[in-house]
Amino acid sequence: MPKRSRDTIVIAVPKGRVLEQLSGRLEEAGICTHALTARSRKLVREDKESGLSYLLLKPDDVPTYVEYGAADLGIVGRDVLMERDYDVFAPVDLDIGKCEMMVCGRPKEPISGKGERPLRVATKFPHIAERYFRAKGTPVELIFCQGSVELAPLTGLADVIVDLVETGETLRQNGLVPLEKIADVSSVVIANRAALKLRREAIEPILDALRG
Ligand code: PRP
Repeated sequence: MPKRSRDTIVIAVPKGRVLEQLSGRLEEAGICTHALTARSRKLVREDKESGLSYLLLKPDDVPTYVEYGAADLGIVGRDVLMERDYDVFAPVDLDIGKCEMMVCGRPKEPISGKGERPLRVATKFPHIAERYFRAKGTPVELIFCQGSVELAPLTGLADVIVDLVETGETLRQNGLVPLEKIADVSSVVIANRAALKLRREAIEPILDALRG
């Protein structure tokens, strides 16, 4: 792990569509984001004045960095925490990055087995989908896709998908509809458990500002 100043608080943030909302939310909380919003390809953005250092990561990697202590805090969607267990503390819901985890498909697609075979479900979230359909007692065959999951029902790869829906525009433009809601999703702050104990004086004010 690279050395860092004992006084610097490291925050893992997700690159991508939530970053803009997140910068706004941090600014509102009085947390300096100059380093975070600067146009740059740097993956570590240090703001010496505020003593914060941001790591820009793929959303799925944020909890890993926080769990292992490479970052003290992180910002991540609940979908990522629902998909895999991480040993992190999630003290604050930021009320940004709001969307829904849904079962989607063609209009009126029955969410049930197709005669002899189980329902085919394409998704980036196999554990969430598996848990959901197991609880419903619906036999499924899960097909893992990395993205553009909406293509699966259009091409016959799957009957339905389990995916995030934010505006619903991707579904609409591809002739699909939401069929069942699995869960509400939003971005939360997560904290490394040891850091929360050992660096409480530096971390608590940040959490309090974000709660406000
Ligand atoms: C996400 C999600 C949907 C889309 C939903 O994909 O998987 O495809 O956004 O957003 P909407 O309801 O506002 O249209 P993302 O853009 O992250 O790309 P991906 O398909 O490569 O995962």
